[in-house]
Amino acid sequence: MALSKSILLLSLLALSPLCFCQQSNGGLSPQFYDHSCPKVQEIVKSVVAKAVAKEARMAASLLRLHFHDCFVKGCDASILLDSSGGIISEKRANPNRNSARGFEVIDEIKSAVEKECPQTVSCADILTLAARDSTVLAGGPSWEVPLGRRDAKSASLSGSNNNIPAPNNTFQTILTKFKLKGLDVVDLVALSGSHTIGNARCTSFRQRLYNQTGNGQPDYSLDQSYAAQLKTRCPRSGGDQNLFFLDFVSPTKFDNNYYKNILVSKGLLNSDQVLLTKNEASMDLVKKYAENSQIFFEQFAKSMVKMGNISPLTGSQGEIRKNCRKVN
Ligand code: HEM
Repeated sequence: MALSKSILLLSLLALSPLCFCQQSNGGLSPQFYDHSCPKVQEIVKSVVAKAVAKEARMAASLLRLHFHDCFVKGCDASILLDSSGGIISEKRANPNRNSARGFEVIDEIKSAVEKECPQTVSCADILTLAARDSTVLAGGPSWEVPLGRRDAKSASLSGSNNNIPAPNNTFQTILTKFKLKGLDVVDLVALSGSHTIGNARCTSFRQRLYNQTGNGQPDYSLDQSYAAQLKTRCPRSGGDQNLFFLDFVSPTKFDNNYYKNILVSKGLLNSDQVLLTKNEASMDLVKKYAENSQIFFEQFAKSMVKMGNISPLTGSQGEIRKNCRKVN
Protein backbone atom coordinates (compact mmCIF):
# COMPACT_ATOMS: atom_id res chain seq x y z
CA MET A 1 0.00 0.00 0.00
CA ALA A 2 2.71 2.44 1.14
CA LEU A 3 4.88 1.35 -1.77
CA SER A 4 2.18 1.85 -4.38
CA LYS A 5 1.40 5.27 -2.87
CA SER A 6 5.03 6.35 -3.14
CA ILE A 7 5.24 5.03 -6.70
CA LEU A 8 2.17 7.08 -7.53
CA LEU A 9 3.69 10.13 -5.89
CA LEU A 10 7.00 9.65 -7.69
CA SER A 11 5.34 9.27 -11.07
CA LEU A 12 3.25 12.37 -10.44
CA LEU A 13 6.40 14.30 -9.57
CA ALA A 14 8.14 13.02 -12.67
CA LEU A 15 5.23 14.11 -14.84
CA SER A 16 4.64 17.49 -13.28
CA PRO A 17 7.21 19.57 -15.23
CA LEU A 18 5.62 18.27 -18.43
CA CYS A 19 2.18 19.22 -17.19
CA PHE A 20 3.26 22.75 -16.22
CA CYS A 21 4.82 23.19 -19.63
CA GLN A 22 1.72 21.91 -21.35
CA GLN A 23 -0.52 24.15 -19.31
CA SER A 24 1.36 27.34 -19.99
CA ASN A 25 1.54 26.67 -23.72
CA GLY A 26 -1.84 25.05 -24.21
CA GLY A 27 -0.20 21.76 -25.15
CA LEU A 28 2.10 23.41 -27.70
CA SER A 29 5.88 23.24 -27.88
CA PRO A 30 8.56 25.04 -29.92
CA GLN A 31 10.13 21.63 -30.68
CA PHE A 32 6.96 20.16 -32.17
CA TYR A 33 8.32 19.77 -35.73
CA ASP A 34 11.98 19.15 -34.80
CA HIS A 35 11.81 15.59 -36.11
CA SER A 36 8.83 15.64 -38.46
CA CYS A 37 9.75 18.83 -40.36
CA PRO A 38 13.05 20.27 -39.14
CA LYS A 39 13.22 22.87 -41.93
CA VAL A 40 9.76 24.38 -41.46
CA GLN A 41 10.94 27.51 -39.67
CA GLU A 42 13.58 28.18 -42.30
CA ILE A 43 11.06 27.75 -45.12
CA VAL A 44 8.48 30.06 -43.54
CA LYS A 45 11.10 32.72 -42.87
CA SER A 46 12.46 32.67 -46.42
CA VAL A 47 9.05 33.04 -48.09
CA VAL A 48 8.01 35.81 -45.66
CA ALA A 49 11.33 37.59 -46.22
CA LYS A 50 10.83 37.48 -49.97
CA ALA A 51 7.26 38.82 -49.69
CA VAL A 52 8.25 41.63 -47.33
CA ALA A 53 11.20 42.59 -49.54
CA LYS A 54 8.71 42.95 -52.40
CA GLU A 55 6.22 44.93 -50.31
CA ALA A 56 7.06 46.16 -46.80
CA ARG A 57 3.38 46.35 -45.81
CA MET A 58 3.07 42.58 -46.11
CA ALA A 59 4.71 42.22 -42.67
CA ALA A 60 1.80 44.15 -41.18
CA SER A 61 -0.80 42.23 -43.14
CA LEU A 62 0.53 38.84 -42.02
CA LEU A 63 0.75 39.95 -38.39
CA ARG A 64 -2.87 41.07 -38.49
CA LEU A 65 -4.05 37.82 -40.10
CA HIS A 66 -2.78 35.89 -37.08
CA PHE A 67 -4.69 38.22 -34.72
CA HIS A 68 -7.90 37.88 -36.73
CA ASP A 69 -7.43 34.12 -36.74
CA CYS A 70 -6.82 33.74 -33.00
CA PHE A 71 -9.81 35.85 -31.90
CA VAL A 72 -12.23 33.56 -33.74
CA LYS A 73 -12.46 30.01 -32.28
CA GLY A 74 -8.76 30.19 -31.35
CA CYS A 75 -5.66 30.06 -33.55
CA ASP A 76 -6.92 27.39 -35.93
CA ALA A 77 -6.47 28.96 -39.38
CA SER A 78 -10.25 29.37 -39.70
CA ILE A 79 -9.65 32.77 -41.33
CA LEU A 80 -7.87 31.11 -44.25
CA LEU A 81 -10.87 29.05 -45.40
CA ASP A 82 -12.64 30.17 -48.56
CA SER A 83 -16.40 29.78 -48.88
CA SER A 84 -17.45 26.40 -50.24
CA GLY A 85 -19.94 23.69 -49.34
CA GLY A 86 -20.97 24.29 -45.76
CA ILE A 87 -18.33 26.95 -45.13
CA ILE A 88 -19.06 30.66 -45.09
CA SER A 89 -15.67 32.32 -45.20
CA GLU A 90 -14.55 34.71 -42.46
CA LYS A 91 -12.94 36.72 -45.23
CA ARG A 92 -16.27 38.42 -45.86
CA ALA A 93 -16.78 39.46 -42.20
CA ASN A 94 -16.72 43.21 -41.47
CA PRO A 95 -13.21 43.30 -39.95
CA ASN A 96 -11.78 41.39 -42.94
CA ARG A 97 -13.73 42.49 -46.03
CA ASN A 98 -11.61 44.71 -48.33
CA SER A 99 -9.03 44.68 -45.58
CA ALA A 100 -7.49 41.35 -44.60
CA ARG A 101 -4.69 40.41 -46.96
CA GLY A 102 -1.64 38.18 -47.27
CA PHE A 103 -3.51 34.98 -48.18
CA GLU A 104 -1.39 34.40 -51.29
CA VAL A 105 1.78 34.55 -49.21
CA ILE A 106 0.38 31.93 -46.83
CA ASP A 107 -0.46 29.78 -49.88
CA GLU A 108 3.10 30.08 -51.10
CA ILE A 109 4.52 29.10 -47.71
CA LYS A 110 2.12 26.19 -47.45
CA SER A 111 3.05 24.76 -50.83
CA ALA A 112 6.78 25.05 -50.06
CA VAL A 113 6.23 23.34 -46.70
CA GLU A 114 4.03 20.61 -48.23
CA LYS A 115 6.81 19.82 -50.70
CA GLU A 116 9.28 19.32 -47.86
CA CYS A 117 6.95 17.53 -45.40
CA PRO A 118 3.55 16.56 -46.78
CA GLN A 119 0.54 16.90 -44.45
CA THR A 120 2.65 17.56 -41.39
CA VAL A 121 2.57 21.29 -40.62
CA SER A 122 -0.72 23.05 -39.90
CA CYS A 123 -1.80 26.28 -41.55
CA ALA A 124 -2.40 27.65 -38.04
CA ASP A 125 1.27 27.12 -37.14
CA ILE A 126 2.37 28.63 -40.46
CA LEU A 127 0.34 31.77 -39.67
CA THR A 128 1.83 31.99 -36.19
CA LEU A 129 5.40 31.65 -37.48
CA ALA A 130 4.73 34.15 -40.27
CA ALA A 131 3.49 36.69 -37.70
CA ARG A 132 6.69 36.30 -35.67
CA ASP A 133 8.93 36.50 -38.74
CA SER A 134 7.05 39.57 -39.99
CA THR A 135 7.63 41.32 -36.68
CA VAL A 136 11.35 40.54 -36.78
CA LEU A 137 11.71 41.61 -40.42
CA ALA A 138 10.07 44.95 -39.62
CA GLY A 139 12.66 45.53 -36.87
CA GLY A 140 10.70 44.24 -33.88
CA PRO A 141 11.48 41.63 -31.23
CA SER A 142 11.84 37.89 -31.77
CA TRP A 143 10.53 35.04 -29.65
CA GLU A 144 10.24 31.26 -29.65
CA VAL A 145 6.93 30.12 -31.11
CA PRO A 146 5.11 27.24 -29.41
CA LEU A 147 3.89 24.86 -32.17
CA GLY A 148 1.54 21.94 -32.64
CA ARG A 149 -1.73 23.70 -33.51
CA ARG A 150 -4.08 21.89 -35.86
CA ASP A 151 -6.47 23.35 -38.42
CA ALA A 152 -10.20 23.90 -38.01
CA LYS A 153 -12.70 22.15 -40.23
CA SER A 154 -15.07 25.11 -40.01
CA ALA A 155 -15.17 28.89 -40.04
CA SER A 156 -17.27 31.36 -38.05
CA LEU A 157 -18.52 34.47 -39.79
CA SER A 158 -20.43 35.58 -36.69
CA GLY A 159 -17.40 34.93 -34.45
CA SER A 160 -15.38 37.12 -36.75
CA ASN A 161 -17.95 39.92 -36.72
CA ASN A 162 -18.49 39.78 -32.96
CA ASN A 163 -15.15 38.89 -31.35
CA ILE A 164 -12.71 41.06 -33.25
CA PRO A 165 -12.70 44.60 -31.82
CA ALA A 166 -13.82 47.41 -34.14
CA PRO A 167 -11.98 50.73 -34.33
CA ASN A 168 -15.03 52.63 -33.05
CA ASN A 169 -15.69 50.30 -30.10
CA THR A 170 -15.37 51.90 -26.68
CA PHE A 171 -12.29 51.20 -24.58
CA GLN A 172 -14.42 49.02 -22.29
CA THR A 173 -15.81 46.96 -25.19
CA ILE A 174 -12.34 46.41 -26.62
CA LEU A 175 -10.95 45.37 -23.23
CA THR A 176 -13.89 43.01 -22.71
CA LYS A 177 -13.26 41.39 -26.10
CA PHE A 178 -9.63 40.84 -25.08
CA LYS A 179 -10.60 39.47 -21.66
CA LEU A 180 -12.97 36.99 -23.29
CA LYS A 181 -9.86 35.58 -24.97
CA GLY A 182 -7.86 35.45 -21.73
CA LEU A 183 -5.90 38.63 -22.51
CA ASP A 184 -5.62 41.56 -20.09
CA VAL A 185 -5.04 45.31 -20.32
CA VAL A 186 -1.26 44.79 -20.57
CA ASP A 187 -1.74 42.50 -23.56
CA LEU A 188 -4.19 44.97 -25.09
CA VAL A 189 -1.81 47.90 -24.93
CA ALA A 190 1.24 45.89 -26.00
CA LEU A 191 -0.48 44.12 -28.91
CA SER A 192 -2.05 47.36 -30.14
CA GLY A 193 1.58 48.37 -30.66
CA SER A 194 1.30 46.31 -33.88
CA HIS A 195 -0.17 49.50 -35.29
CA THR A 196 3.40 50.76 -35.47
CA ILE A 197 3.33 49.18 -38.95
CA GLY A 198 0.75 48.91 -41.71
CA ASN A 199 -2.14 50.88 -43.07
CA ALA A 200 -5.77 51.69 -42.40
CA ARG A 201 -8.48 52.77 -44.81
CA CYS A 202 -10.28 56.09 -44.59
CA THR A 203 -13.49 54.27 -43.68
CA SER A 204 -11.84 52.95 -40.49
CA PHE A 205 -11.39 56.41 -38.94
CA ARG A 206 -13.56 58.86 -40.96
CA GLN A 207 -16.00 59.29 -38.10
CA ARG A 208 -13.25 60.95 -36.04
CA LEU A 209 -12.76 63.65 -38.67
CA TYR A 210 -16.37 64.73 -39.12
CA ASN A 211 -18.84 63.25 -36.70
CA GLN A 212 -17.31 61.53 -33.70
CA THR A 213 -20.33 61.37 -31.41
CA GLY A 214 -23.19 61.87 -33.84
CA ASN A 215 -23.53 65.63 -33.33
CA GLY A 216 -21.47 66.69 -36.34
CA GLN A 217 -18.37 67.47 -34.29
CA PRO A 218 -14.89 66.00 -34.85
CA ASP A 219 -12.99 64.00 -32.26
CA TYR A 220 -11.20 66.64 -30.17
CA SER A 221 -8.71 64.06 -28.92
CA LEU A 222 -7.26 64.03 -32.46
CA ASP A 223 -4.62 66.67 -33.18
CA GLN A 224 -6.40 69.26 -35.33
CA SER A 225 -3.61 69.88 -37.83
CA TYR A 226 -3.12 66.15 -38.29
CA ALA A 227 -6.89 65.87 -38.78
CA ALA A 228 -6.82 68.59 -41.45
CA GLN A 229 -4.13 66.66 -43.28
CA LEU A 230 -6.09 63.41 -43.10
CA LYS A 231 -9.22 65.13 -44.44
CA THR A 232 -7.53 65.96 -47.76
CA ARG A 233 -7.59 62.28 -48.71
CA CYS A 234 -10.42 61.13 -46.47
CA PRO A 235 -13.38 63.31 -47.43
CA ARG A 236 -16.84 63.28 -45.85
CA SER A 237 -17.97 60.87 -48.53
CA GLY A 238 -15.99 58.87 -51.05
CA GLY A 239 -12.43 57.60 -50.84
CA ASP A 240 -13.44 54.85 -48.41
CA GLN A 241 -10.58 52.60 -49.47
CA ASN A 242 -7.86 55.29 -49.46
CA LEU A 243 -4.93 54.12 -47.38
CA PHE A 244 -3.17 55.88 -44.49
CA PHE A 245 -0.20 54.86 -42.39
CA LEU A 246 -1.14 53.77 -38.88
CA ASP A 247 2.18 55.22 -37.70
CA PHE A 248 2.93 58.21 -39.93
CA VAL A 249 6.40 58.71 -38.40
CA SER A 250 7.91 55.33 -39.31
CA PRO A 251 5.20 53.40 -41.17
CA THR A 252 7.15 50.24 -42.00
CA LYS A 253 9.42 50.09 -38.98
CA PHE A 254 8.41 48.14 -35.91
CA ASP A 255 9.31 50.57 -33.11
CA ASN A 256 7.59 52.48 -30.30
CA ASN A 257 6.57 55.53 -32.35
CA TYR A 258 2.98 54.28 -32.21
CA TYR A 259 2.91 55.15 -28.49
CA LYS A 260 4.74 58.44 -29.00
CA ASN A 261 2.12 59.42 -31.59
CA ILE A 262 -0.69 58.65 -29.16
CA LEU A 263 0.92 60.91 -26.55
CA VAL A 264 0.72 63.84 -29.00
CA SER A 265 -2.88 63.04 -30.05
CA LYS A 266 -1.85 61.52 -33.36
CA GLY A 267 -3.10 57.98 -32.95
CA LEU A 268 -4.95 57.26 -36.20
CA LEU A 269 -7.76 55.01 -34.98
CA ASN A 270 -10.15 55.86 -32.19
CA SER A 271 -9.17 52.50 -30.65
CA ASP A 272 -5.55 53.70 -30.55
CA GLN A 273 -6.25 57.06 -28.93
CA VAL A 274 -8.60 55.70 -26.24
CA LEU A 275 -5.71 53.71 -24.78
CA LEU A 276 -4.48 57.07 -23.48
CA THR A 277 -7.71 58.84 -22.72
CA LYS A 278 -10.16 56.36 -21.21
CA ASN A 279 -8.35 54.24 -18.65
CA GLU A 280 -5.63 54.92 -16.14
CA ALA A 281 -3.88 51.54 -16.33
CA SER A 282 -3.68 51.68 -20.11
CA MET A 283 -2.56 55.32 -20.01
CA ASP A 284 0.35 54.35 -17.77
CA LEU A 285 1.30 51.55 -20.16
CA VAL A 286 1.18 53.84 -23.22
CA LYS A 287 3.54 56.22 -21.42
CA LYS A 288 5.84 53.40 -20.35
CA TYR A 289 6.13 51.93 -23.87
CA ALA A 290 6.62 55.39 -25.39
CA GLU A 291 9.50 55.94 -23.02
CA ASN A 292 11.19 52.58 -23.30
CA SER A 293 11.03 50.49 -26.44
CA GLN A 294 12.82 47.58 -24.82
CA ILE A 295 10.06 47.16 -22.27
CA PHE A 296 7.54 47.35 -25.12
CA PHE A 297 9.41 44.72 -27.16
CA GLU A 298 9.66 42.31 -24.23
CA GLN A 299 5.97 42.62 -23.42
CA PHE A 300 4.98 42.41 -27.08
CA ALA A 301 6.79 39.07 -27.43
CA LYS A 302 5.11 37.70 -24.28
CA SER A 303 1.67 38.88 -25.35
CA MET A 304 2.10 37.43 -28.85
CA VAL A 305 2.85 34.01 -27.36
CA LYS A 306 -0.20 34.40 -25.12
CA MET A 307 -2.41 35.35 -28.07
CA GLY A 308 -0.96 32.49 -30.11
CA ASN A 309 -2.00 30.06 -27.38
CA ILE A 310 -5.71 30.93 -27.53
CA SER A 311 -7.69 27.65 -27.67
CA PRO A 312 -5.51 25.68 -30.07
CA LEU A 313 -6.76 22.42 -31.57
CA THR A 314 -4.27 19.71 -30.60
CA GLY A 315 -3.84 15.94 -30.62
CA SER A 316 -6.53 14.39 -32.80
CA GLN A 317 -8.70 17.53 -32.96
CA GLY A 318 -9.09 19.25 -36.31
CA GLU A 319 -6.79 18.25 -39.14
CA ILE A 320 -3.64 19.20 -41.01
CA ARG A 321 -5.02 20.85 -44.13
CA LYS A 322 -3.33 20.14 -47.45
CA ASN A 323 -4.48 23.48 -48.82
CA CYS A 324 -5.00 26.32 -46.34
CA ARG A 325 -8.06 27.57 -48.26
CA LYS A 326 -10.14 24.39 -47.88
CA VAL A 327 -10.77 21.50 -45.54
CA ASN A 328 -9.37 18.13 -46.67
C1 HEM B 1 -7.17 46.54 -29.98
C2 HEM B 1 -8.08 46.42 -30.90
C3 HEM B 1 -7.79 46.57 -32.36
C4 HEM B 1 -8.54 47.24 -33.25
C5 HEM B 1 -9.86 47.96 -32.96
C6 HEM B 1 -7.89 47.17 -34.51
C7 HEM B 1 -8.37 47.72 -35.68
C8 HEM B 1 -7.66 47.81 -36.86
C9 HEM B 1 -8.12 48.49 -38.04
C10 HEM B 1 -9.46 49.18 -38.18
C11 HEM B 1 -7.15 48.41 -38.97
C12 HEM B 1 -7.18 48.99 -40.37
C13 HEM B 1 -7.98 48.08 -41.25
C14 HEM B 1 -8.36 48.72 -42.56
O1 HEM B 1 -8.77 49.88 -42.58
O2 HEM B 1 -8.27 48.02 -43.61
C15 HEM B 1 -6.07 47.67 -38.39
C16 HEM B 1 -4.88 47.38 -39.04
C17 HEM B 1 -3.90 46.60 -38.49
N1 HEM B 1 -3.96 45.92 -37.28
FE1 HEM B 1 -5.31 46.22 -35.82
N2 HEM B 1 -6.73 46.46 -34.39
C18 HEM B 1 -6.63 46.07 -33.08
C19 HEM B 1 -5.64 45.27 -32.56
C20 HEM B 1 -4.63 44.69 -33.29
C21 HEM B 1 -3.78 43.63 -32.83
C22 HEM B 1 -3.91 42.94 -31.47
C23 HEM B 1 -2.91 43.36 -33.83
C24 HEM B 1 -1.80 42.34 -33.91
C25 HEM B 1 -1.36 41.64 -32.89
C26 HEM B 1 -3.21 44.27 -34.90
C27 HEM B 1 -2.50 44.38 -36.08
C28 HEM B 1 -2.81 45.25 -37.12
C29 HEM B 1 -1.92 45.51 -38.23
C30 HEM B 1 -0.50 45.01 -38.38
C31 HEM B 1 -2.63 46.34 -39.11
C32 HEM B 1 -2.16 46.84 -40.49
C33 HEM B 1 -2.53 45.78 -41.52
C34 HEM B 1 -2.13 46.08 -42.94
O3 HEM B 1 -1.52 47.09 -43.25
O4 HEM B 1 -2.47 45.23 -43.81
N3 HEM B 1 -4.27 45.03 -34.55
N4 HEM B 1 -6.41 47.30 -37.11
